[in-house]
Amino acid sequence: MAKIFCTKTIPKESWTKLKEQGHEINIWDDKIHGPISYEELLKQVSDCQALACMLGDRIDRNLIEHAPQLKVISQYAVGHNNIDTKYANERGIIVTNTPDVLTHATAELAFALLLSCARKIIPAAKNVEEDQWLGWEPLGFLGKSLKDSTVAIIGAGRIGQEFAKMCHGAFDSKIVYVSRSTKEGFEKSFNAQRMELKEALSRADIISLHCPLTEQTRELLNNETLSYCKDDAIIINTARGEVINQEHLIENLKVGKFHSIGLDVTTPEPLPENHPLRQFDNVLIVPHIGSATEIARKEMGRLVCQNIENVLSKISPITPVTN
Ligand code: DGY
Repeated sequence: MAKIFCTKTIPKESWTKLKEQGHEINIWDDKIHGPISYEELLKQVSDCQALACMLGDRIDRNLIEHAPQLKVISQYAVGHNNIDTKYANERGIIVTNTPDVLTHATAELAFALLLSCARKIIPAAKNVEEDQWLGWEPLGFLGKSLKDSTVAIIGAGRIGQEFAKMCHGAFDSKIVYVSRSTKEGFEKSFNAQRMELKEALSRADIISLHCPLTEQTRELLNNETLSYCKDDAIIINTARGEVINQEHLIENLKVGKFHSIGLDVTTPEPLPENHPLRQFDNVLIVPHIGSATEIARKEMGRLVCQNIENVLSKISPITPVTN
């Protein structure tokens, strides 16, 4: 029987089948011990055959070398930039992730951030909470209308396309997108137009990031590319914090550029209390909750464990990743 280690608590029904099969399952209880440290993880993986990990766990070459019996790294997320997949694959270790099951949840969150930013929901709610509500105000909390807006989707994969569909349906938005390849079905369904980053950014009222973090997308938004954006654009990031150069974003915010920014992801996570990005009224930050719906998290757990079960039984995993 195999030894399986999981770095956080996931929905407990995920483990039912693996338990029935008699595998030894050890789950790090972060509620008691706090998030697992890299050093502790090194110890834990030294004799296990399967690892279920989270997007915050650094699964690098060194860690993989400390796990001589490892057969499968099953990530509880779709993004897998925290894993040295190339090296794992070289060592014959299968890496898997959880695509599809969190697509709608993550697009919904991007959409929620967009509406909250555009209509100043958080400052308006704070006004009530703090007992500052003096009466109906003709000029209070004026937001940005999203009707007929142009939305730039950066990374038109499953989540980007789902978000575009929401904007197209809700606001009659014009969709432009930046992608490594042309998405014919997407273009047909939403009259979406593929373009270079510079052109997409310069046309967009809303910029939503949905690309994976790679060497090509790291700091894709920086002083140069931010300068292409409209002064009153809204930026939404549910991809990875590192896709934006945060220092550059802060410089731009300081001079009043951008209507507002909605971030589900930052660098680092969690973002320290005194971080300058937390000082702006028009920057809304939530703690990486893109996939946080009950159904998505259940399905992610099912997939994580099914992938482990398949690899341990020498069957192809459902959702392997190779790059
Ligand atoms: C993931 O799973 O990679 C995303 O960050 C979901 O929010």
